[in-house]
Amino acid sequence: MNVQEIMQQMTLEEKAAFCSGHDFWHTKAVERLGVPSVMMCDGPHGLRKQEGEGDHLGINKSIETVCYPTAAALASSFDRDVMRKLGEALGQECQAENVAMLLGPGLNIKRSPLCGRNFEYFSEDPYLAGEMGAAYVQALQGHGIAACAKHFACNDQETLRMSGSSNLDERTLREIYLPAFEAVVKKGKTRSLMCAYNAINGTFCSENKMLLTDILRNEWKSDAFVVTDWGAIKDQAKGVAAGLDLEMPGGPNATGEEIVEAVKTGTLDESDLDKTVLRLLQFVKDSVEQRRPGATIDRDACRKLARKLAGECAVLMKNEGSLLPLKENQKVAFIGEFADKPRYQGAGSSHINVPHAVSALETAGNAVIYARGYDAHSDVTDEAMLKEAVETAKKADVAVIFAGLPDAFETEGADRDHMRLPDNQNELIKAVSQANPHTVVVLHGGSPVELPWLHDVPAVLCAYLGGEQVGAATVDLLYGKVNPSGHLAETWPIRLQDNPSYLNFPGEEGVVTYAEGIFVGYRYYDKKEMPVNFCFGHGLSYTQFEYANLKLDKDSLTDQDTLTVSVDVKNIGSVAGKAAVQLYVRDVESAVRRPVRELRAFEKIALQPGEIKTVMFTLDKRAFAYWEPKCHDFFVESGEYVIEIGESCRDIRITQPVQVEGTIELPFTVTVNTTIGQLLKHPKGKEIIGNMMRSSALSHVDQTDSMGEGSERMMQGMMMGIQLGALVSYGRLTRKQLKDLIATLNA
Ligand code: GLC
Repeated sequence: MNVQEIMQQMTLEEKAAFCSGHDFWHTKAVERLGVPSVMMCDGPHGLRKQEGEGDHLGINKSIETVCYPTAAALASSFDRDVMRKLGEALGQECQAENVAMLLGPGLNIKRSPLCGRNFEYFSEDPYLAGEMGAAYVQALQGHGIAACAKHFACNDQETLRMSGSSNLDERTLREIYLPAFEAVVKKGKTRSLMCAYNAINGTFCSENKMLLTDILRNEWKSDAFVVTDWGAIKDQAKGVAAGLDLEMPGGPNATGEEIVEAVKTGTLDESDLDKTVLRLLQFVKDSVEQRRPGATIDRDACRKLARKLAGECAVLMKNEGSLLPLKENQKVAFIGEFADKPRYQGAGSSHINVPHAVSALETAGNAVIYARGYDAHSDVTDEAMLKEAVETAKKADVAVIFAGLPDAFETEGADRDHMRLPDNQNELIKAVSQANPHTVVVLHGGSPVELPWLHDVPAVLCAYLGGEQVGAATVDLLYGKVNPSGHLAETWPIRLQDNPSYLNFPGEEGVVTYAEGIFVGYRYYDKKEMPVNFCFGHGLSYTQFEYANLKLDKDSLTDQDTLTVSVDVKNIGSVAGKAAVQLYVRDVESAVRRPVRELRAFEKIALQPGEIKTVMFTLDKRAFAYWEPKCHDFFVESGEYVIEIGESCRDIRITQPVQVEGTIELPFTVTVNTTIGQLLKHPKGKEIIGNMMRSSALSHVDQTDSMGEGSERMMQGMMMGIQLGALVSYGRLTRKQLKDLIATLNA
């Protein structure tokens, strides 16, 4: 299949029509030229393949298959290998089901806990999200199945997602909302991206040239094709000109006549259309060539994998008095409907048709006693259920409450109204923990919740939405068959009002302003030194780890070098466990506002009791850089940085300073509005100011005396804040002198 030749043989009408789908899940064939149709389906944590009439929200049944942990859980594993295993399993299944592309991973940033789709996204931290996404994409595509990184970009809420605009500054876009996509493009080599429904600063993603061409293609050098989110197209001809390739779902009315019209009237350059058609033909060609006819899938093996992955993701948030793991001889009560009917996935386009989700109750069997405790479809307390639950808890040595967000509380298509658990669950937890001080809470949900009872409960295990095997995995974790090793990929604030997006979520009239800028998640809470329930990166284990011998291969470097970091990690406990070693970088002093620290590397390592392993990291320029709008690039300022190794952003165990020299000089254009203070930072500024100080140009003593007790601080402030233009008004320079001065400085 020679894509160039085929494209040249296609008529304008055929090319135009080819840019829209055949139906909900298939590309158009071009029978005349032997171009087949290929299928794409949702992911991202299972295969939602609709046999009959397709729809994009899972209303019509899809094939029965395996549902894995969702992204919110997967990210908590802090383990790229977890993502690789998932990507491989899904790649194998897509081959068996003749699906050419899987619509995932979801990479949007968790700006607010209220986003209804947070379960489908990885993190508040773009580096973690990008690394997990890239590992998944590499593995999936290793099986010949295209990934589709979504939703590109700034689709960080569900409210008015199809018509709204996310408004944010350049630095915030580049440092927070694009890097995960950048990693999946550059490292994961994703074969496609799905452009989001929303606009960015008023320009819809489906026709956003800056996003789809300037950044994606020209800067990131990607040859990926871009598909719309389902129904995201606004003006298809404008979209193609901006770098969009495929409108989905397309269907019988999507004949491409707009494109034909635009080419004929000259508003769309046919060469742009040809690039689009070539990218789509290349996708079909790759899919055909990498097709493995006869591939099969062993779904029992997949279920075993789903159970293992869920065990890697759950986060042991609290474990006072080592209440966990449970002992076999303890009398244990499982309380809460989710023990019997686990909540394990989210509603919407990612919803997988699961024949049977394994519950903790069926896994534990007769080893436990049970009480339903609440009705998951209500948030009103049922007094009889509550009473029965309390009585049951009293009979047990340990009461394990399975709580969390019901389906109705978080879903694609709608944001959450608040951050609370259902009232009946909070009441149950309070009552049971009063009846039995040995109470454990197991949480299910795709996003943080408020924990009013946290101080009354000695142990909390967060399973997130852990996939169809979450019940079995939870029992493995509760009884210590698996040692919890998950770490939070997002902050759990004490109350919603503490969240940095609180005043600007979900926006008004379809416009949401990211006023918090780069200060998202732990970048905000740490900068404000604000207490939280559980911080980013937090996670306990049934063992403990010690960190020593932090070594850097150099104590100073430039932004063109790399820095190799090594640290020894030892398991000092009595059981095997896994450590999520996190490396943060802190810029000690900065000319711009920067977070206290930022995650720049991580590794998950398994250690037997007493075992020591040396973990190595390699840092490049990006570990120290921030996005500088003055040069429209990532920029490293010279100075001291600190390499920090820890088990969360607030549990730093060992640090080492390092000097970094930035080799890029920022453009400095002097204008009449440049202040004396700014001028002192100009390469020639100091000398010029010195001369001016010696001349009468800056002598202000007489004036400030007349302003009363001219304090040094006032003098300093007044002087540094004078803009050059004022010197003419103060009679210190003539207009010509000022003009010559500016010309000299800009030479
Ligand atoms: C939905 C989702 C997207 C999904 C697509 C197809 O609206 O936003 O994630 O892949 O449509 O179902």
